[in-house]
Amino acid sequence: MLSPTFALWRATALAMAFACTACSLPPTAFSGPSPEARAGAKALGRGVNFGNMLDAPREGDWALSVEQAFVDLVGRPGFVEHVRLPVRWSNHASADAHAIIEPAFFERVDSVVQRLLDRSVIVILNMHHYRQLDGDALDPAEFAVDPAVLEARFLAMWRQIAQRYANHGPRLLFEVYNEPHGRLDAGWNDLLARAVATIRESNPTRLLVVGPTQWNSANALPKLVLPNDPHLILTVHHYEPFGFTHQGAEWAQPTRPTGIDCCSAADQALMVGLLDLAQREATRLGGYPVYVGEFGAYEQAPAAARLRYVHVMRQALERRGLPWAWWELAGDFGVYDRGLGRFYSDLTDALYGP
Ligand code: BGC
Repeated sequence: MLSPTFALWRATALAMAFACTACSLPPTAFSGPSPEARAGAKALGRGVNFGNMLDAPREGDWALSVEQAFVDLVGRPGFVEHVRLPVRWSNHASADAHAIIEPAFFERVDSVVQRLLDRSVIVILNMHHYRQLDGDALDPAEFAVDPAVLEARFLAMWRQIAQRYANHGPRLLFEVYNEPHGRLDAGWNDLLARAVATIRESNPTRLLVVGPTQWNSANALPKLVLPNDPHLILTVHHYEPFGFTHQGAEWAQPTRPTGIDCCSAADQALMVGLLDLAQREATRLGGYPVYVGEFGAYEQAPAAARLRYVHVMRQALERRGLPWAWWELAGDFGVYDRGLGRFYSDLTDALYGP
């Protein structure tokens, strides 16, 4: 039988040995991207955002709903390889920390996701416009929640979404949050890590799209800390020159004057410079693939200049091997005229043509 003193000494020694073994191990090596992340990013190719539909406070509030006619467009040859599907979950979930997502809304999203996947495209399902999380004013038809539960709700929604789609194949990607900014500028890295950990409880290898603050600006990539996870794709959004792409857009205050041209040498330097910055930062972050999940120009931009903008951006993106998605399908940045039931052929050809 061991004396109490020896037993205590042995327990202490074992504890110290274990602690020392743990301490002497190198910290978990940063994994960098998996082959699946690289291949998954490449497969995204050219895409389109189904914007202003499920990301409105309620579907239809911004004049558009997901119509079967839109879904049918994406399977056509020579159009898109992927659809980014923005969804405003926060306005369809209970106001408490559990953020229980309304069953009818879940069923609606299920149906859209499945019909898109049935068209053989890749689908990026995101969380979009949780206004209060960014510290923004609420939109009409939105409700405020107790600020103390904002982040718990974010994670609770992701837990439900991740569980709901856990059995889908790899052609479904999740994007953690669209354009974090404002209130999130300070705590985004931490919240991102917690969201990725939450999703990983049920989806250990699903590809996740993650991006920096300042509305997913490449300029904010130096501040981004990535969770140590191999199945990530980095995303940035690109609307420069902003005075050109957002001319006349009433939601981008102050409203920019219209009649602005594109693309001078200085414009082009700005446009390609941001893509180069994104690629340099992606290398610094471990070589993760970069996806430009939004770029586009508002319908009030002069038509010929808008085509020049598309030409410069598409060429710059494709020369760098960057997958991309145009903002957006059928609204006021759109490539599709919903009223006439046809594509704006010049814009669509410039984007998706040979
Ligand atoms: C927003 C849209 C907006 C677009 C262009 C997107 O990220 O979700 O509401 O129209 O950027 O400003």
